[in-house]
Amino acid sequence: MGPMGPIGLISHFSHSQLSTLNSPMTIFLVGFMGCGKSTVARGLAELSDFRYVDLDQEVCHLAGAESVAEIFATKGEEEFRRLEREAIERLSGEGDVVVATGGGAPCYGDNMDRLMELGVTVYLRMSARALTERLQRVRVVRPKIVGLTPEELAAYVTGLLAERERYYGRARVVVDCDGIPSRVVISRLKYLTKKRN
Ligand code: S3P
Repeated sequence: MGPMGPIGLISHFSHSQLSTLNSPMTIFLVGFMGCGKSTVARGLAELSDFRYVDLDQEVCHLAGAESVAEIFATKGEEEFRRLEREAIERLSGEGDVVVATGGGAPCYGDNMDRLMELGVTVYLRMSARALTERLQRVRVVRPKIVGLTPEELAAYVTGLLAERERYYGRARVVVDCDGIPSRVVISRLKYLTKKRN
């Protein structure tokens, strides 16, 4: 099928190349805060009989903390990033899993290289405008954006997305998510989890 997959989805490998990938497989969803990684990962895992893993939750588990906000407040972001890397390492060798990574996870150290070695990376691409709209509703639980005014949030998302896109954009599969319901994104990604051979 060449580099283009189903509509709205750019895959950097074809279905036949995919079929040569070894099972068991790990799928890493990457993308900015609020792009829907958790919802899509949960839905895709359920549909495919894969295990769903939330990387933020794994980090909380490692830290013995209730929330990411608690880790940021008590141990600082640097320690959060160290634990995030450790949580990625702990996923190596896991079976059929769909992982929702944290928005910053691929953007620190060589994490993106590591994610690409360990599994299939999928970027849920969303514009700064759409992300800002979605984050407006849920910023309280996210330490990076808590307390920002709507204008500050828009500027923050635009700036940080521009910096991070170079990491996210390396993903093997890129799916455009602006205005697309999660269930449609999930069905577009279903082919990744099809049992091969
Ligand atoms: C972060 C994103 C969050 C979480 C932490 C830092 C970031 O994950 O890991 O608050 O740096 O973008 P979500 O993308 O799931 O919100």
